[in-house]
Amino acid sequence: MDKLIVHGGATLSGAINISGSKNASLPILAATLLTAEECVIRRVPDVSDTNYMIQILSALGMEVERSSGTVRIVGEKVSDEAPYELVRRMRASICVMGPLLARNRRCVVSLPGGCVIGDRPVDLHLRGLEALGAKVEFEAGNITLTATHGLRGAEIDLRGTHGPTVLGTDNVMMAATLAEGTTVIESAAAEPEVLDLANFLNSMGAKISGAGTRRIVIEGVSALHGTEHNVIPDRIEAGTFMVAAALAGDAVTLRRVNREHLKVITAALESSGHRVVFNDAGDACTIYRGGNLAGVDLVTAPYPGYPTDMQAQMTALLATTPGLSVIKDTIFPQRFMHCAELKRMGADIKVDQGTAIVRGVAQLSAAPVMASDLRASAALVLAALTAKGRTEISRLYHIDRGYEHIDEKFLMLGARVERAQ
Ligand code: EPU
Repeated sequence: MDKLIVHGGATLSGAINISGSKNASLPILAATLLTAEECVIRRVPDVSDTNYMIQILSALGMEVERSSGTVRIVGEKVSDEAPYELVRRMRASICVMGPLLARNRRCVVSLPGGCVIGDRPVDLHLRGLEALGAKVEFEAGNITLTATHGLRGAEIDLRGTHGPTVLGTDNVMMAATLAEGTTVIESAAAEPEVLDLANFLNSMGAKISGAGTRRIVIEGVSALHGTEHNVIPDRIEAGTFMVAAALAGDAVTLRRVNREHLKVITAALESSGHRVVFNDAGDACTIYRGGNLAGVDLVTAPYPGYPTDMQAQMTALLATTPGLSVIKDTIFPQRFMHCAELKRMGADIKVDQGTAIVRGVAQLSAAPVMASDLRASAALVLAALTAKGRTEISRLYHIDRGYEHIDEKFLMLGARVERAQ
């Protein structure tokens, strides 16, 4: 099993390109199930989660061709049962449910299992699809959805106890594109990845307005056609490298970013004392480590709030930022597994009821640590960049789920990292 070895202390500098967004690519790949015509999707990151999604689409009968970042997909006929062996590997496979149901009027998808970042139910996805007329049945760990007479538009409020749902909004929006009549989703997720999916669907002939806001209106159409699309930049990968630059950098430039999507991450870094300078086009930024640093208080929230997917990485930065920082995760209150590992490296962190209280220490020290999920692993890599000594991060497969060639990108910036067995 792969490990990443990080020799702390190198100064990062230079420039790298940010990859296409994993979390936009996954539902966009799933949305190709809505048409029998060919779709060409560019800037799909080469990470294991997009590979799982491609394997699921192939198993469903789609012909998929991938060359570097471009994926060509066509499927004249698709099966309606997503295979458990593939689905169980990735929670996001749930987003084939909406398009399969819309296309075949029936789908069978395994109920996603537990997840280390918290309890991740799918009740809101099902509530939305039921409102469109689907019958929901559970049997042997599978969810079967049927809409024998097709789906019908409806007014649906998708707010849950932790706010809106990203993939739930995606599922209902995709299903509603082929429903009869108009669907209104209230309390929709407004993440840029939802907007990118809506743009993709509209380029297939869907009629969606309001995506990127809390109210999305979808006028159903009878069929969607093939299209071409470029996936948006990955704001979480960009944010992760912004934090790396703030921790260990001396002017690091990130190209292919979107300033608008990075506002709140930029603000958090600036309030801690670092400097982020964007070019006029807003598609590249340079991060300068600050000289006079202070802790910050952060609360995760749905977009445009501070992303839960950047909570662990910022915790790693604040672990060596002078002063007190308080970080609250309202979306996944149990998402603090990285803190126990950071403490093994000498961090002073107390976690209580979804909140981490971090007292910055002067330096962390290397230790063997274990990745527990995608963003937690990224946080450990970041912490190791300035830790004294050689940090060995095991279970690297977690990081390969969502960061394209992360070791190569760090090497390009001058970090001393190596993959080992
Ligand atoms: N929730 C419910 N019921 C549902 C669905 C969600 O109660 O039916 C709750 C969740 O338990 C959570 C909150 O609603 O407390 C938000 O979850 P959401 O449904 O938005 O999460 P998701 O769509 O499954 C996506 C990202 C996650 C990211 C979350 C939150 C993808 C593929 N995944 O998941 O990304 O953390 O939104 O922004 O887009 C990651 O990339 O590391 C990652 C975990």
